[in-house]
Amino acid sequence: MPHPALSADHTAVVTGGASGIGLAAAGRFAALGMNVCIADVDDARLHAAAAKLAPLAKRGEAIMTAKVDVSRRDSVVDLEAKVRQRFGAVDVLMNNAGIQPGSKMFGPEDNWQRILGVNLWGIIHGSQVFAPDMIAQGTPALIINTGSKQGITTPPGDPAYNVSKAGVKAFTEALQHELRNTPNCKVTAHLFIPGFVFTPLTANGRVEKPAGAWTPEQTVDVMLDRVSAGDFYVLCPDNDVPRALDERRILWAAGDIVENRPPLSR
Ligand code: NAI
Repeated sequence: MPHPALSADHTAVVTGGASGIGLAAAGRFAALGMNVCIADVDDARLHAAAAKLAPLAKRGEAIMTAKVDVSRRDSVVDLEAKVRQRFGAVDVLMNNAGIQPGSKMFGPEDNWQRILGVNLWGIIHGSQVFAPDMIAQGTPALIINTGSKQGITTPPGDPAYNVSKAGVKAFTEALQHELRNTPNCKVTAHLFIPGFVFTPLTANGRVEKPAGAWTPEQTVDVMLDRVSAGDFYVLCPDNDVPRALDERRILWAAGDIVENRPPLSR
């Protein structure tokens, strides 16, 4: 049973929606008969994404594209206004835009600012700008924030990315507390941690999906199933986060995060 927010004629906004995981999610929302706003910073990708999704939309006007830079609050405020003007309510917000250009511990500050700006501030801006109106609607609604297992296990290398994604986890948990403690609030926030997904972000020049990688559609299907089942943390099954945490003897809300379900095949 899909979550009630995922109903035909409801509206989903996906940041970073013009590529990879975001585009696959936008496609799934469109196929459910939802209105979809594909929000992205890249004009060429937005154009291509709109053409790709048009056949999935039940009506031409159900898909809109919007240029946004999630690292800038004014840009996200502008996005919210445009979506509300076009579709009215927002039922699903997927804060998914992310970059991984690489970073070094003692590297230039502007690179750290850029990575934290998109990956962490983007999620904060999206949640803070959209959530109050979503709460006020009084109907079931979803905020889905895309994190990464690197924000939990902090492997060596790419410290700025790890820090940004650790922030996504912490921010999403803070938002969950806030929503739980808000009277009559029907909005829930979910931390989505994809596995290794073959997208432009991870392709590194490869054209073929490496063995063991997920397609964006596969990981989005898991995410939608688990969010619909009420999971606040969605860890794709090939993630070794619980094992990695155990090996490093880090205790972290194991009851919340360890999956009790059988692994899904790919
Ligand atoms: P992708 O590179 O295919 O798509 C990311 C999209 O975000 C692009 O269309 C890009 O133009 C957009 N974007 C970049 N900066 C933006 C900004 N300032 N404002 C708005 N949009 C912006 O990447 P992918 O793989 O689909 O990643 C999506 C999310 O999933 C990211 O947050 C990434 O960190 C996360 N992730 C991906 C994994 C993977 O294996 N692909 C694994 C774990 C997490």
